[in-house]
Amino acid sequence: MITKEQALEVLRGKNQEHVMKFFDELSADQQKDFLAQIENINWSDFDLIGSDEASARGEFTVPPAVEISEIQKRHDEFEATGLEAIKKGEVAAVLLAGGMGTRLGFDLPKGCFNVGETHDLFIFQCLINNLMDVVNQAGCFVLLYIMTSEKNDKATRDFFAEHNYFGYNPDYIQYFIQDMACAVDYDGKLLLENKGRLATSPNGNGGWYASMVKAGLDKDLKAKGVKWINIFAVDNVCQRIADPVFVGATISGGFQAGSKVVRKVDPQEKMGLLCLEDGKPSIVEYYEMSDEMAEAKAEDGSLLYKYGVILNYLFSLEKLDDIVNNSMFVHVVEKKIPHIDGEGNPVSPETPNGYKFELLVLDMVHMMDSNLAFEVDRVREFAPIKNLHGVDSVDSAKELLKKNGVTL
Ligand code: UTP
Repeated sequence: MITKEQALEVLRGKNQEHVMKFFDELSADQQKDFLAQIENINWSDFDLIGSDEASARGEFTVPPAVEISEIQKRHDEFEATGLEAIKKGEVAAVLLAGGMGTRLGFDLPKGCFNVGETHDLFIFQCLINNLMDVVNQAGCFVLLYIMTSEKNDKATRDFFAEHNYFGYNPDYIQYFIQDMACAVDYDGKLLLENKGRLATSPNGNGGWYASMVKAGLDKDLKAKGVKWINIFAVDNVCQRIADPVFVGATISGGFQAGSKVVRKVDPQEKMGLLCLEDGKPSIVEYYEMSDEMAEAKAEDGSLLYKYGVILNYLFSLEKLDDIVNNSMFVHVVEKKIPHIDGEGNPVSPETPNGYKFELLVLDMVHMMDSNLAFEVDRVREFAPIKNLHGVDSVDSAKELLKKNGVTL
């Protein structure tokens, strides 16, 4: 542990000594925690502020894909392959639930949100219900790892325990906490959450495997014979998890990864599109795409780049080990960061006031040698909850749940 003097020396070297202003007011324990936070700052992130993130992109081509029509034809074959892997315990699921869910504006973890109307139906419950379909089909539980953040870990664990894991076998559930990263103002100055704590936030959804390794869970995965990991977002209440057909299609095709995708309905629709970039799997965000690329047509008149990702990926565990040993790209993202001012008064900004540093799972897809785009029906499998109302909201997700026969 560094001393106060050592911390001051480091901070002075970085022009950040303002964060020590309230240090002498803290209790001994608070001082210890604060010094530990300073010791763990990843200063290299700070060099990225102001650097042009949009580095030159390579040449884009159409990715290998299986469309719904082909999946229907080969359904039984894919399903049998996937079920065999699941029954052998080779497929684990990882729920990414470390996000702050700020757009929803809900105090508890997003998964605790109740979408039920006549009875309770929580987001976490929807996901467990979906996974139970596979458990029942395969006749065995699927290992489920839940990534939380230090901000929502206890609330998440308590919620699952209070609800008896929504019928899942808790022996198959493990939690791990993702890393945090510092937040800074637009001048790159560290912000304080309170007098004894730097403002931090979860470090994005791309740090999940590194956090699993830190928690020692990579050993657990290997000891249990896992070969494939299906990672998925907390907010899509209709998604299929550890879907045997998806698993089977990825394995049968000899791919290192698979991505569930939905067909873009409008050339300008705001979604990340799966492509090949210089022959490697790559996701291009809608704002990075030229109009020409967004509107390019295939021979049959359909959109050439039409596969939008829905944050449901299957990764080969072996390849993840390579990735975690290589450093991932850090994104500098503008956000609203609550903090205290120089006098110690709380500030809750209404508009973005600084930057957070995030790792994104889409960069992991790019680090895979091969990836299969697996098309799913968006009405059946894509109901993300980002907002309360409007696009990708509680309202739209409820409509889709009803369309899929779920009683709310
Ligand atoms: P979003 O990009 O929607 O972010 O996350 P968010 O933090 O949940 O919500 P907003 O932007 O503040 O409204 C997509 C998925 O990635 C997970 C989320 O929990 C969600 O499942 N995620 C995101 C993490 O697990 N950790 C993070 O640091 C960020």
